[in-house]
Order: sequence, then structure tokens, then C-alpha cells
Amino acid sequence: MSGTAQIGVTGLAVMGRNLARNFARNGYTVALHNRTVARTHELVEEFGGEGHFIATESARDFVAALERPRRLVIMVKAGEATDAVIAEFAPLLETGDVIIDGGNAHFEDTRRRERELREQGIHFVGTGISGGEEGALEGPSIMPGGSEESYDSLGPMLEKISAKAEDGAPCVTHIGPDGAGHFVKMTHNGIEYADMQLIGEAYQLLRDVAGYSPAQIADIFRTWNTGRLDSYLIEITAEVLSHVDASTGKPFVDVVLDQAEQKGTGRWTVQIALDLGVPVSAIAEAVFARSVSGHADLRDASRHLTGPTARRLGADEAAAFADQVEQALYASKIVAYTQGFHEIAAGSERYDWNIDLGKVASIWRGGCIIRAAFLDRITSAYEARPRLPSLLADKGFAEEIAAAQGDWRTVTATAVTRGVPTPAFAATLAYYDSLRADRLPAALTQGQRDYFGAHTYHRTDREGTFHTLWGGDRTEVES
Ligand SMILES: NC(=O)c1ccc[n+]([C@@H]2O[C@H](COP(=O)([O-])OP(=O)(O)OC[C@H]3O[C@@H](n4cnc5c(N)ncnc54)[C@H](OP(=O)(O)O)[C@@H]3O)[C@@H](O)[C@H]2O)c1
Repeated sequence: MSGTAQIGVTGLAVMGRNLARNFARNGYTVALHNRTVARTHELVEEFGGEGHFIATESARDFVAALERPRRLVIMVKAGEATDAVIAEFAPLLETGDVIIDGGNAHFEDTRRRERELREQGIHFVGTGISGGEEGALEGPSIMPGGSEESYDSLGPMLEKISAKAEDGAPCVTHIGPDGAGHFVKMTHNGIEYADMQLIGEAYQLLRDVAGYSPAQIADIFRTWNTGRLDSYLIEITAEVLSHVDASTGKPFVDVVLDQAEQKGTGRWTVQIALDLGVPVSAIAEAVFARSVSGHADLRDASRHLTGPTARRLGADEAAAFADQVEQALYASKIVAYTQGFHEIAAGSERYDWNIDLGKVASIWRGGCIIRAAFLDRITSAYEARPRLPSLLADKGFAEEIAAAQGDWRTVTATAVTRGVPTPAFAATLAYYDSLRADRLPAALTQGQRDYFGAHTYHRTDREGTFHTLWGGDRTEVES
């Protein structure tokens, strides 16, 4: 017998609960389930008036409450919990039913789960969901993977509950088969790490070099948010910087321990980039910067390390410097996104996902943490040239970087000479210079490798693979 709920959500912590409410507010009847039954009843007691919910206490009742083909969203702790929930529900499902995993799963786990469930005739849709607690309720950016067929049945519902970009387009698209959705969500989070680190470096320069207070820097960020840097992260940065701690009267940012935490998606982005051979230095530096911040023991033990102390600028110089920091931040941001999109392109090729990069940029315009006006530009760049090898190959972005690079270099050099750590500014600038260099020292690296390991090399002037007899008379042999 078929139930009446068009969708079910199991896992009713902050994300699942808000996603269930979002479906209900959009007119869907939602079946509810949670391992700890009390959470299910709490949701109905608190928010039952928002729509049609069917509270269930067992897996069997939950499955029975769903209309067929069943659509069942899992929003539990990623990892073993997801496998446990699948093991509980899969035996109760039938051919054509759809399991949607909205947790932050590793895409390789999603590929495995999709393969196993496909053998049972069940569609498994690994889905990236971004926007945090508020996004889940008000409209997140949604990145579903899985089969085309599953998107046919699920897509219209996801489009309804998703965020809408300024032009009204829903922030959801079918990303590609099996793990594609979770891969793109992982990279989204990696870019988010880089974005946050770059903003952090800009803040520190404005504080330590320009000598501005957190409240003044908040105003600077508010101004930037009206221009090309317009984004959710810049907006909330201004909010955080202007917040004053109630108990001490000090800027909030001065009473928070400066040790950043991470949950893992940024680290995965870097690990996978290494496997794919994609240079994502901005994301890597962001992950490392959080790691350095957390090494309280090292930082404490390093109190004897000397270096320049940042000399504060005068008022006129400070205002001009702030403008330069804006240029540096924008140029570095373009590079960070260039690297992130390169990783998605490489993943798409490796796993045969055929991901539309312009579409990815367009569904990040609303709902998600890295939502930004600038993403429209990325969409246009890929629409104009779907096979764009790199965002930096786009004429518009190249021209903007060209215009910003004088200030970008000045700011990065200032940070170095004044001893302010700006690893992501420096890494993005080095990446840019690596791409534009006529010759890289990689030729010397190849020589060294051939010297100690007979690893061979290629020549610039003729085809073939060569080795020099370094220990002998140094003649060159073709191998
Ligand atoms: N928080 C965010 O901003 C955010 C954003 C995007 C994606 N996500 C992802 O969304 C998912 C849910 O996140 P969350 O923060 O709402 O919750 P969470 O703290 O990651 O997980 C708690 C939920 O998982 C259930 N659970 C844990 N172990 C279980 C098991 N062995 N069997 C069955 N259920 C189990 C819990 O049930 P009980 O109530 O019984 O303990 C509870 O419903 C996660 O994968 C997370 O990574 C989170």
C-alpha cells in the first residue's frame, strides 16, 4: 500500500528538521523519522502548523507513509551513521525508490553506495546542500548527483525548496551521475575555506598595517560589499567585526580564541586535488592556516622568533592602502575560484561526470555560503566558452587581474616586509606568476631527477625521451 507523503526526512537535527519544514512550507506532505523518537515529536509540536507532517516512530512506518516511488531524504551524521541508516531502510524499499543523502558525504562513499543500491534497483542521490541551518529552512543551494531518472522525479521538488538567484532561477541543477553532487559540494566548501582565509588576511592587514579598529574595518567591508566583492561572506564579516562582546565591551573578534576549527571538507578538497594533480594552493593554504592556528603548542614555543613589527600607517596612507587591499583581495579571489573550478573540471573528466561548470557557478549564486555577485561573471565566462581551460583564460577576468596586479603585488610585498602572514595572498599571486612565466625552474627539477634517479627528461628542441650519463662522460642517450 502506498502512503501519502511525497517526501520523507530521516535525521531531524538542525539540518534535517529545517529541510523537512522547508518541504512542508512549500506544500508537500512530509513523513518524519529520527533515531531518537523525541526529536520527531518535538518538530511536530513546535512547527506542526507550518504544513502537513506525518510523524513516525519506526523505519517500517516511515517507509509505509511515503507515496511510491518513495523519496526518502537522509540527514544524519556523515560516515558510518549514513551506512547504518541505509542498511536499515534499503531492505524495506522497492525498485524505483529514491534515497537522497543530503549529508556531507565523501564522494567516494557516495559512489560506493550508489553502486550497491543500483544493484537493488534503488536510486541513490548523493546531494550537496549548502546554506547551513538557515539555508535549509529558507532555501539552500542544492547539488544533487545520481541518475537522470531520479532527477526527473526529484528535480521539481528540489527546485521549489531551493534558494532563488536574483533573476529568479532556482539554485539547483542535476550535477551528474553517482558522486558528482558530493564532489561539487566538497569543492564548494574548499573554495569557501579559501574565500574566508583571504578575507581574514585582508582584515589582518587592515588592522596591523593600516591600523584600523574592527569597527572601522567593518565599515570598509560594508563598502566593499556594495561593489564587485558583494557576497554573503563579506556581508557577515562586517557583522562579526562590528559585534561588541557584551561581557567585556571589547570587539567580539578580540575575545575569541584565534584557533580555527575544521570539519573535513576543505581537507578532502586538497587531498583529492593532490590525487588529481590539480594545483589548489589557495585552498591548501587556507586549510594549513587553520591547522597552524590550532597548534597552540608550536605558537607558544615560537615566542622567541623575531621579525619586523608592523608599523602603522598614517590616516591618508591607510585609506589608500585599504583600496589596494581590495584590489589584492579581488585578484586572489579570482585565482581561488579558478583553482576550485579546475578541480571540478578534473574530477568531471576523471569520473566521466560531464559537469556543466557554468551551471555550477549559477546555482551557487543564491543560498550557499559562497554566494556572490561575482558568480554571474563565472557563469557568463563558461557560457561564452564551455571548454574554457581556466577562468584566467577568460578575457574579462584576465583584464581585471591585469588592472589589480600592481596593488596585489604591493600589498603582498608589504605583508612580507612587515611580517604579517598572508599565505593565501602570496600563494595565489605565485600561481598567477607561474602561469605567466616564460620558463619555470621545472627544467632544473627534471635535471636533478635525471641526475639522482635516471628519471629522464624531454627536450625543447626535439621529440624523444633522454637521459644524461651523469656519472660518466655526460653524454646524452635516448631512452
Ligand atoms: N550543520 C550544517 O550547517 C550542515 C550544512 C550542510 C550539510 N550538513 C550535513 O547534514 C547532515 C546533518 O547535519 P546536522 O548538523 O543536522 O546533524 P549532525 O549533528 O551531523 O547529525 C545528527 C543526526 O544524525 C543522527 N544520527 C547520528 N548517528 C546515527 C545513527 N548511527 N543512526 C541513525 N541516526 C544517527 C542523529 O540522530 P539522534 O537524534 O538519534 O542522535 C541526528 O538526527 C550531516 O551530514 C552534515 O555534515 C550540515
